Amino acid sequence: MGPSKSKVLLTGVTGFIGGRLLPVLLEQGAAVRCLVRSPQKLPAQLFNNPSVEIAAGDLLEPDTLLRAMEGIDGAYYLVHSMGGRSIFDARSFIERDLRAAENFTRAAERVGLQRIIYLGGLGETGDNLSEHLASRQKVGRILQSGGVRTTALRAANIIGAGGAPFEMLRYMVERLPVMVCPKWIDTRSQPIAVQNVIEYLTGCLFEPATSGLTLDIGGPDIITYRQLMLIYARVRGLRRMIVTVPVLTPRLSSYWINLMTPVPAGVVMPLVEGLKNEVICRDNRIRALVPSRLIPMEEAVCTALTEIQQGPGRLPSRQACLMR
Ligand SMILES: NC(=O)c1ccc[n+]([C@@H]2O[C@H](COP(=O)([O-])OP(=O)(O)OC[C@H]3O[C@@H](n4cnc5c(N)ncnc54)[C@H](OP(=O)(O)O)[C@@H]3O)[C@@H](O)[C@H]2O)c1
Repeated sequence: MGPSKSKVLLTGVTGFIGGRLLPVLLEQGAAVRCLVRSPQKLPAQLFNNPSVEIAAGDLLEPDTLLRAMEGIDGAYYLVHSMGGRSIFDARSFIERDLRAAENFTRAAERVGLQRIIYLGGLGETGDNLSEHLASRQKVGRILQSGGVRTTALRAANIIGAGGAPFEMLRYMVERLPVMVCPKWIDTRSQPIAVQNVIEYLTGCLFEPATSGLTLDIGGPDIITYRQLMLIYARVRGLRRMIVTVPVLTPRLSSYWINLMTPVPAGVVMPLVEGLKNEVICRDNRIRALVPSRLIPMEEAVCTALTEIQQGPGRLPSRQACLMR
């Protein structure tokens, strides 16, 4: 299935990833139906675009899904249920995550969808896995358990302006000359630039060989969270000191990050709990299936900062950014 011939259902278009994927799919000639809970969140010009249809719907309301999937070839599943401003919202997402995935799988089977492409999280299975990462894996298994061939991409933190992990990083490093962090600061991960994620998401639609596979996606750098913070500080020309305190629990540090950043508590807490888990690609088949230039983290941070300063799409040269 190639984007120029396909009619695609896009979920999560009011979010960080879906909002960036939509213009790229349109550029590649796809017709896109966007399933949204709140159409009023979308920019007005989308409603006049002949290649875009808006379908009001909710993954927790199965009837809305059947309608939204009619006449669709393939669908992107770019939804999670974390959210809410209160720390009490941080525990209720798992049941919603699983119910949404069940509903989507059943509806996709009923309408005979050809493909689903899901973006979930890296992280091995096991007792120690955070609830959020475990939930992301369960969602992948539910989608793959149905009769529709489902590609599950697994990513660690995605670095781009407006994404929750990058905004947490940005606010922490900008605001705190001395950062007191728990042990997770030295957990290794393989973050990926949002531009690479979008290339993989569109590439999978083009490449039938990715259909039905679970594929790890990551950037070129395997680094600790400490190194990522120091990369951010270096790009911004900031001097920062990180002090490790073994007694600080993930829960306490998430309260602290919640105070320091505008990211909602219902997102911060599950994400911070997951920082104890190493998130590194175990297989790199995606690199042969969808070849891309993998963007180093320094460049990803630089691009994200420039977008924040100048608006999306204004990409700097790496040198220009580092010389600011
Ligand atoms: N950001 C990262 O660093 C990262 C890393 C690894 C994997 N991922 C995966 O990438 C995917 C997208 O994440 P994101 O960062 O783009 O999240 P996001 O910015 O928080 O967006 C989430 C989207 O899901 C929609 N949504 C939530 N519940 C829904 C429901 N019941 N029905 C319909 N839509 C619903 C939201 O719509 P509303 O506007 O209506 O709330 C929003 O558009 C997720 O599967 C996530 O696990 C993200």
